[in-house]
Amino acid sequence: MAETKTALVTGANKGIGYAIAAGLAAQGYRVAVGARDDERREAAVAELRRGGAEAFGVRLDVSSDQSVAEAVAVLDERLDHLDAVVNNAGVSGPTAAGALQDPLTLDLDVLRADVETNVLGAVRVINTALPLLRRSASPRIVNVSTDMASLARRTGPIMAAYAPSKTMLNAMTVQYARRFAETDPGILVNAVCPGFVATAFTGFSGSRTAVEGAAVAVRFATLPDGGPTGTFVDDGGTIPW
Ligand SMILES: NC(=O)c1ccc[n+]([C@@H]2O[C@H](COP(=O)([O-])OP(=O)(O)OC[C@H]3O[C@@H](n4cnc5c(N)ncnc54)[C@H](OP(=O)(O)O)[C@@H]3O)[C@@H](O)[C@H]2O)c1
Repeated sequence: MAETKTALVTGANKGIGYAIAAGLAAQGYRVAVGARDDERREAAVAELRRGGAEAFGVRLDVSSDQSVAEAVAVLDERLDHLDAVVNNAGVSGPTAAGALQDPLTLDLDVLRADVETNVLGAVRVINTALPLLRRSASPRIVNVSTDMASLARRTGPIMAAYAPSKTMLNAMTVQYARRFAETDPGILVNAVCPGFVATAFTGFSGSRTAVEGAAVAVRFATLPDGGPTGTFVDDGGTIPW
């Protein structure tokens, strides 16, 4: 019998992360729901289980070294390998009505907070989980980005903290892809954009459902061997950097 596939999804208690967890569970993955709030996490796990998923919760705040170390220690106890890590947890930071993170008046603490979660959070999780990923036959890493991070496309409102933090996440994705190509060519790492999704993040104003937004992350978390790495994509294909 084939070994059960396993995945960690960060920020999986709601929104796109929850839908990614559900999508991977639907493909037979045993899913670790990484979330920082105990109540929201356990509610999400219960809901996933009601839907037939094999899911369990892991307390995880990606902005904390200690929390990430503790979460991976729990995974290490419960799983013998990790097939996929989806770095979905993300924050935009406060935005003022009519002047969305104006670079001219940017609060540096907002910029710091976005980088801490959206960039350092992903790096923390990847590097800490790497030994578990290396025990998989086909490890996959997905970094949930946004087309607002595209320097070429310049799309969406001006968000001088959020958008550049995701641009850096994209840059880190390329660094990881290059590095893995040297010593871990089986590890595929990609950045994906879910599109404009109706979640708390967008005040539920997005045009896509969380399930639609999650689809590209699920696809890249389950890539076949020899699939793309170091790319930036959405449902429509490659996004220019
Ligand atoms: N919605 C869109 O249109 C859109 C478009 C492009 C990209 N994205 C990206 O998609 C990802 C998911 O966004 P979403 O729309 O699903 O937003 P969401 O509903 O606000 O969900 C964000 C998730 O991230 C979690 N999170 C935030 N900081 C965290 C931390 N330090 N540690 C652990 N978890 C943390 C949140 O947990 P709490 O519940 O505890 O706050 C929540 O589970 C984000 O990376 C976002 O940048 C979204």
